[in-house]
Amino acid sequence: MPANAWWAVARSEEITATKPINVDIGDQPIVLWRDNGVVRALEDRCPHRRAPLSLGCVLGSGKIQCGYHGWTFDGKDGQLVDIPNLKSDRKFPPVYRARAFAVAESGGFVRVNLDAKAAAPAPLAETLPLAGTENVALGHEHFINALFDNPALVIAIRGIKFTPYLMAELVEQDGRLVLERSCQWSTPSWPAPFISDFPVTLRISTDAITGESELLLRDDAFMPLLRATIAPVPAARGVTQVRWRAKLEAGRRSLAAKAMALGAPFRVLPTVDGAELRVTKPSASIHAADLRREIANRADSAVAA
Ligand code: FES
Repeated sequence: MPANAWWAVARSEEITATKPINVDIGDQPIVLWRDNGVVRALEDRCPHRRAPLSLGCVLGSGKIQCGYHGWTFDGKDGQLVDIPNLKSDRKFPPVYRARAFAVAESGGFVRVNLDAKAAAPAPLAETLPLAGTENVALGHEHFINALFDNPALVIAIRGIKFTPYLMAELVEQDGRLVLERSCQWSTPSWPAPFISDFPVTLRISTDAITGESELLLRDDAFMPLLRATIAPVPAARGVTQVRWRAKLEAGRRSLAAKAMALGAPFRVLPTVDGAELRVTKPSASIHAADLRREIANRADSAVAA
């Protein structure tokens, strides 16, 4: 995992003060819970006998208690604060401390950085109201490449057909990868044999390290129809956990645009069509892979300096 990246590992509403949850960043298991409103993140392995802390419980004090032998840890720094039946004159061995991670919460996402001392990212001002979580059986890199090459493999926008044509090629802008794809309204006659009319475009702006992407769907007058954020995170066993949030925009003018509001306007697909994925020719993803490597190297050099 990159040394300094903020991964959107949960949606705010998924984290409670009653039941801890387990997430992963790659091979790193993490337990999350709320301690008096503040989200805490510790390694999801008890330092005693390695039981997952996520199987334990959150105490009234906001500390987390392991379900196996009842040791209790402070989420702020992972410090061991209580061992049941320990005589009052005995000290806690300092080696028993859970690894703590940096946490930031804004825009309805909970982000974790594996570097506990990482500076907090700039907060997001708005929380998009529609939201979901999917566990996709596709590796993180492949998920991002599929989004670049053919979004229909991993997302669905009600009433929209993604075409193979790009309105703007993939480029780097301020450390992000940005492309714009031509789209059409989904109608019974689509696809026409020759397509030259693209009344809708989808702009995708992707963080080069994490793959977190901002999506903006616009009509032919460049009025926003829908905004979405999708946050893919590499999880255990090659699964990609994808949290997303979305919002329909007010500038809907046509009947087709209004129809978007009649059902679920945005989804991350829970399963990927393997047959379709296999025959999808790499296009934008080829250039993206080079740019991602270049940006990751620059970030590593900056951390080393
Ligand atoms: S394994 Fe957690 S207290 Fe023993």
